[in-house]
Amino acid sequence: MRADLLLIGFGNVGRRFARLLEERRDRLSHDYDLDTRIVGITTRSHGAVFSPSGVNVEESLVRIERESSLGTPQPAARMIDALAESDAPMRVVIETTTLNIEDGRPAIAHVESALEANCDVVTANKGPAAFAYARLDALAHARGREFLFEGAVMDGIPVFNLVRETMPAVTVRGFRGVVNSTTNHIISALEDGETFAPALARMQAEGIAEADPSLDVDGWDAAAKASALANVLMNANITPHDVLRTGLDTSTEFAVQDAMSRGNRLRLVASATRDGDGNLVVTVKPEELPGTDVLAGLRGMANALILQTDLLGEVAIHQLSGSLTQTAYALLSDLISIRRRRA
Ligand SMILES: NC(=O)c1ccc[n+]([C@@H]2O[C@H](COP(=O)([O-])OP(=O)(O)OC[C@H]3O[C@@H](n4cnc5c(N)ncnc54)[C@H](OP(=O)(O)O)[C@@H]3O)[C@@H](O)[C@H]2O)c1
Repeated sequence: MRADLLLIGFGNVGRRFARLLEERRDRLSHDYDLDTRIVGITTRSHGAVFSPSGVNVEESLVRIERESSLGTPQPAARMIDALAESDAPMRVVIETTTLNIEDGRPAIAHVESALEANCDVVTANKGPAAFAYARLDALAHARGREFLFEGAVMDGIPVFNLVRETMPAVTVRGFRGVVNSTTNHIISALEDGETFAPALARMQAEGIAEADPSLDVDGWDAAAKASALANVLMNANITPHDVLRTGLDTSTEFAVQDAMSRGNRLRLVASATRDGDGNLVVTVKPEELPGTDVLAGLRGMANALILQTDLLGEVAIHQLSGSLTQTAYALLSDLISIRRRRA
C-alpha cells in the first residue's frame, strides 16, 4: 500500500525520520506491504518543496544541513491541500514542529487541517495532545482518520500504544513519573557535587539542555507531557497551564544535598491523582523520595513512568536513555499502526 507523506517540520526529528524510512524501506515493504513516499516538506525559515511524484529527500537533507532553502516557502495549509489531492490509499501528515507552550499553535492547526482534509496525522509535538486532545480525537473519529502522537512522551518507548493496544478495559487511575531528561541530568550532577549554574551550563554545552533551557528547567516540558498523559489516559481535558508546576532553581542545589543527607533522593516528578472530592490534580514539582522508590534510582537521561491502574496494579515503564532515533521510531511505529488499521 502506498503512503504519501507531507513533513511539516524538518529539524532533528523530521530528518532522522526521513533517514529511518530509507533504512527500514525493505522491512516496511516486506513485513507491512507499506511503500512510503515523501511528497512534501515544509519548514518555518528554510522554505518548502512539494512534488506529487516524490521529492528528492537526499537533496533536501543536504540543503537543510547546509542551511540553504528547500524552495519557495508555502503555507502549511496549502501543502496539506496538495497532499489531499494524492490518490495514494494512505495520505499522512508528519508533524514535527517546535512546541509552543503558550497555546500549542500552530501544531494544533496543522493537525486540524490534516484531519479536515481527510489525511491521517502523526506528531512528535506535545502541543496537540497537551492542549486539544479531546477535540482533535473527536475530529479524527468523525473523519475516520488517525491522530497519533507516540513520540510526544518518552520518545519511542510505547506509553500511549501500551495502554491503547495491550490494556483493554483497564482504567488508569493516576500516574507518577520522571519525564524530562534535562532536569534529571541536572539533579544527577547536583548529587555528584556540582553547583546549579555550572551544571546547567555543562548541559547546554553538551547539547542536552536547550540554549534557552527555561522550557525544561521551569518544568514546562514536563507539564506538557503530564497534560498529554492526563488527557489521553484519564480524559482530563486540561492544558499545561492547568498543571500545578514548580521547576528547578538555585535552591534545588541545597534540596538535593539535604535529601541525600537523609538517605533520600530529590526528583522532578510529574503526577496525576484524584483528591478526596474526585477532582484530578496534575502536578510537576521536585519531590523528596525514599531511596527505594523506582523514581529515586533514575540518573542522568533515564526516565520512568508508573501507571496506577484498577486491574493491573502499578505498571512501570522505564527508559534507560532517550535518543533521536527513538523519537523518529515513534513516528514510524505510528505510521505502521495506521497501515495495520487500513488492512
Ligand atoms: N529532539 C528530540 O529528541 C525530541 C524528542 C521528543 C519529542 N520532540 C518534539 O519533536 C518536535 C521536533 O523536535 P526537533 O528536535 O526536530 O526540533 P527542531 O530541530 O527545532 O526542528 C523543528 C522543525 O520545525 C520547523 N518549524 C517550526 N515551526 C514551524 C511552522 N510554524 N511551520 C512549519 N515548520 C515549522 C522548523 O523549521 P526551521 O528550522 O526553518 O525553523 C524545523 O524544521 C518538537 O515538538 C519536540 O518537542 C523532540
